[in-house]
Amino acid sequence: MANGLSAEEFAEILKHAREWNEQHAIRGAIAFDGRMVTQILEGPEEVVDLLFLRIQSDPRHTGVVLQSRADIEQSQFDGFGMSRMSPSDLYMIAVSIEEKHGSGDSAETPLFARLA
Ligand SMILES: Cc1cc2nc3c(=O)[nH]c(=O)nc-3n(C[C@H](O)[C@H](O)[C@H](O)COP(=O)(O)O)c2cc1C
Repeated sequence: MANGLSAEEFAEILKHAREWNEQHAIRGAIAFDGRMVTQILEGPEEVVDLLFLRIQSDPRHTGVVLQSRADIEQSQFDGFGMSRMSPSDLYMIAVSIEEKHGSGDSAETPLFARLA
């Protein structure tokens, strides 16, 4: 949960995320409703794990919850970086990923979905 996260702070996070993720072959989506952040991270497993540890220990939010994690064969997103979308659009993508990959198929690219 992003307690007290302002629109400006969120914009800073998004700017940094877009640059860093692009440089490290991470794709994904993020939604912020003014209180809660929901995010999907997709990319090489070791990079996603490293990034998730950083995000988890970021003092700008609390109560980070990993909702699901899956191996995927095909990306859900175009290009690298981090797209901002509405919480409902992001939720629909997360549900479709879980439906397709929830059983943990063998795959080339791991996916990591997170609710904070
Ligand atoms: C909700 C939230 C989502 C974030 N998502 C990303 C992200 O996708 N990519 C990224 O590089 N940093 C992201 N950050 C920022 C990281 O938590 C962290 O500040 C950044 O990786 C720099 O870490 P460092 O200070 O250990 O170098 C996010 C932060 C928050 C609070």
